[in-house]
Amino acid sequence: MDVISVIRTKRDRGELSPEQIDWVIDAYTRGVVADEQMSALAMAILLNGMNRAEIARWTAAMIASGERMNFDSLSRPTADKHSTGGVGDKITLPLAPLVAACGAAVPQLSGRGLGHTGGTLDKLESIPGWRALLSNEEMLHVLDTTGAVICAAGDGLAPADKKLYALRDVTGTVEAIPLIASSIMSKKIAEGTGSLVLDVKVGSGAFMKNIEDARELASTMVALGTDSGVKTIALLTDMSTPLGLTAGNALEVRESVEVLAGGGPADVVELTIALAQEMLAAAGIKDADPAKALADGSAMDVWRRMISAQGGDPDAALPVAREQHVVTASASGVLTRLDAYAVGVGAWRLGAGRARKEDPVQAGAGIELHAKPGDTVTAGQPLMTLHTDTPEKFDYALASLEGCYDVAPAGTDFTATPIVLD
Ligand code: URA
Repeated sequence: MDVISVIRTKRDRGELSPEQIDWVIDAYTRGVVADEQMSALAMAILLNGMNRAEIARWTAAMIASGERMNFDSLSRPTADKHSTGGVGDKITLPLAPLVAACGAAVPQLSGRGLGHTGGTLDKLESIPGWRALLSNEEMLHVLDTTGAVICAAGDGLAPADKKLYALRDVTGTVEAIPLIASSIMSKKIAEGTGSLVLDVKVGSGAFMKNIEDARELASTMVALGTDSGVKTIALLTDMSTPLGLTAGNALEVRESVEVLAGGGPADVVELTIALAQEMLAAAGIKDADPAKALADGSAMDVWRRMISAQGGDPDAALPVAREQHVVTASASGVLTRLDAYAVGVGAWRLGAGRARKEDPVQAGAGIELHAKPGDTVTAGQPLMTLHTDTPEKFDYALASLEGCYDVAPAGTDFTATPIVLD
């Protein structure tokens, strides 16, 4: 087998054979296929697609590139959730401890920022001392003793995805249904969770810009999970405007802690509870009340234990960026649009995300919003605050925010898009 013929097959809109798929994933994992060759193949897949049989085989090959875990030794049922990625999507942070507080075990293998979307691990690493990298034994121990663990997939778990995920981030090949579905599901199936709730984002800040594509992605992933014996459910949720009031690593940790303390923005609370209810139902846990677990502090208790168990100090001050720049509203009236993609790119350019796969991220960088669609604003009032350690990036970030919001005259009717679309 040679890689050029595999690339040519997909470039010319052909179907990859099971043998070609098994070979190219294995050869890429072992370093026999180079990054530039895999980039070309990823681009051909993005442009020409894959059928369901190819996606299933590609996913199976990614799973087979590494080990499989299992949680049979745990006394609680396992429930996991995965988001396809959005702007300000910090939901995993309050959700994992919340669902654990309600009785499930939550093994949450998470990723780093991809493109303009933030990554759960980058966010949590802004907590002094917190470690994303755990051995399988450490992961099981944290899960068993606290009920939840959020960590990086170990080197042994779907290593093909690890390499490919980082490569796609820097080669413009993220937004492909076959690659997203196989990336997410290979990790989740190899991880060995009993049930999985997928949060498939739709809108400008999501990889899926319209509901038809999101539905296709959701049904592809649900089929992959179900065929592998994982009880899999998907929600389609809105990502036309950022979730909550922050986009950026430490900024989002701060907001998540507010939710765990019983406060926080209404949209973050609503989605956290909706996903918790789905996860608990999928895990077969009845009569749990996630809203109560947020209000009575039991979710916060799990959060504190989980962060400490991974070396973090839940009481430590979070990093703050060295420089701030305030963007003010240009007119008075009702804010009717605040574009998630523009805010995501802005936060990324300020240093919250990476331009090359080896780049570090800035813990304090990002964007804090002072108004959301539906709010009344007055000309000159602060609309958002940009945070960065590198002020030379302000102009670059401001360019991406140009035209990112609309203000309609006061009294204009405004109907908010629901968070859960389907
Ligand atoms: N999350 C993943 O794990 N993989 C993707 O490709 C996109 C989002």
